[in-house]
Amino acid sequence: MDIRRALPGDAVALTRIAFAAKRHWGYPEAWIRQWKESLTITPEFIQDSEVYSAVVGEETVAFYALTGTGQRRDLEHLWVSPAWIGSGVGRLLFEHATRTATSLGANTLEIEADPNAEGFYLRMGARRIGENVYEMDGQERVLPLMAWC
Ligand SMILES: CC(C)(COP(=O)(O)OP(=O)(O)OC[C@H]1O[C@@H](n2cnc3c(N)ncnc32)[C@H](O)[C@@H]1OP(=O)(O)O)[C@@H](O)C(=O)NCCC(=O)NCCS
Repeated sequence: MDIRRALPGDAVALTRIAFAAKRHWGYPEAWIRQWKESLTITPEFIQDSEVYSAVVGEETVAFYALTGTGQRRDLEHLWVSPAWIGSGVGRLLFEHATRTATSLGANTLEIEADPNAEGFYLRMGARRIGENVYEMDGQERVLPLMAWC
């Protein structure tokens, strides 16, 4: 598996992975539609951010994106294609992301995690530093805020 800097032309493939990975948790399609903007990866976003893909042969199987500046960066995306979930690719990309952040001069990586992914980030050595609370269709949705230092 190679980890490569993504190119603007990868936007459609990365968007597909983001939607498929989010659906992996079984959310209602109405929620997926509400998340459309945040799950859509544009060529401009790839151009302006640190976006890296995991590639097997010719297939892109996962990616992550770092945003922000200075000592704190945000892991804004980390999505593994469902067929590859549980294969170790998430760990490889997370470790790559921490190295990338460190090389950019950051000492902290923050993540607003999907609740289903909190255990993964804890396993990667991040800790829970808070939470963001949203409302979805009248239900409270609590997203853990994680930090890796
Ligand atoms: C969360 C995600 C990125 C993890 O990637 P992955 O490739 O499945 O994880 P890995 O196989 O590298 O697992 C690494 C370790 O974390 C553990 N782990 C993985 N996913 C976990 C989860 N959801 N909960 C608890 N532990 C988890 C694994 O058991 C493994 O532990 P080990 O070190 O004891 O072997 C991936 O499952 C995914 O994309 N999920 C759907 C989309 C999503 O929620 N993304 C995160 C948005 S914040």
